[in-house]
Amino acid sequence: MLNKINPWKSNKKPSNLHDRIEQIKAESIPAHVAIIMDGNGRWAKKRSLPRIAGHHEGMKVVRKITRLASELGVKTLTVYAFSTENWKRPKTEVDFLMKLPEEFLGTFLPELIEENVRVEMMGDKEGLPAHTLRAVQKAMHDTRNNTGLILNFALNYGSRAEILEAVKRFSEDCNKGIVSSMDLTEDLFSSYLMTASLQEPDLLIRTSGEIRLSNFMLWQLAYTEFWFTDVLWPDFNEDHFLEALEEFQGRQRRFGGVK
Ligand code: FPP
Repeated sequence: MLNKINPWKSNKKPSNLHDRIEQIKAESIPAHVAIIMDGNGRWAKKRSLPRIAGHHEGMKVVRKITRLASELGVKTLTVYAFSTENWKRPKTEVDFLMKLPEEFLGTFLPELIEENVRVEMMGDKEGLPAHTLRAVQKAMHDTRNNTGLILNFALNYGSRAEILEAVKRFSEDCNKGIVSSMDLTEDLFSSYLMTASLQEPDLLIRTSGEIRLSNFMLWQLAYTEFWFTDVLWPDFNEDHFLEALEEFQGRQRRFGGVK
């Protein structure tokens, strides 16, 4: 049973969903859930719609899942919204994706503030259009004192680039005499990553039937439980999220040891 059920006012849920939420064990809610939101293009194609229609529908799902994760007491929800490789897509699609954070935060920010959600971002900020960065930074600023769910957008994010950047910054600190290579531990290295202030993900969800990591949090996912589904991201809903959590709660995590 959850300690606290706090349904958001504007989000009346059918009673079976509420019952299902009640069945989730509060003591083993994953603290950090990371999601690779895949399948927007295929969702649109199936409906003879342009790919951007799938992204727009996918944005609405982010809202739904954020609400539920917050309600369940998940501490961090990381969503892979744009990778460093996604720049290879047609310009119209990239431009559309770069406008989504503004649209999402433009409408949802007051609700995020009210529900104590803190917005964060990981990724290369310098490569983002000014309007995208402005929207995200405003949301980060306006929610900086919130203590509830951290909604972490992976935006212009690539794990290999993140690791290389960490190595460079660590080397610079070595050269300045701030640290020594002899002191390098996994914890110290982690503190140079973009996720320095976050716990590592407990659960990774990837939608659309693809079974790969696509350059996402390669270091941080070392002991994460993976959950894959064929459901396309725009079709993903609260039931699917709860299904992932239920399966997570049935798994035995050994972190290389024995139980
Ligand atoms: C992958 O699906 C999805 C993306 C590259 C973008 C994901 C972005 C969203 C879900 C919206 C982001 C929302 C906010 C709030 C910023 P795909 O296009 O590769 O799908 P496909 O494999 O079927 O073509």
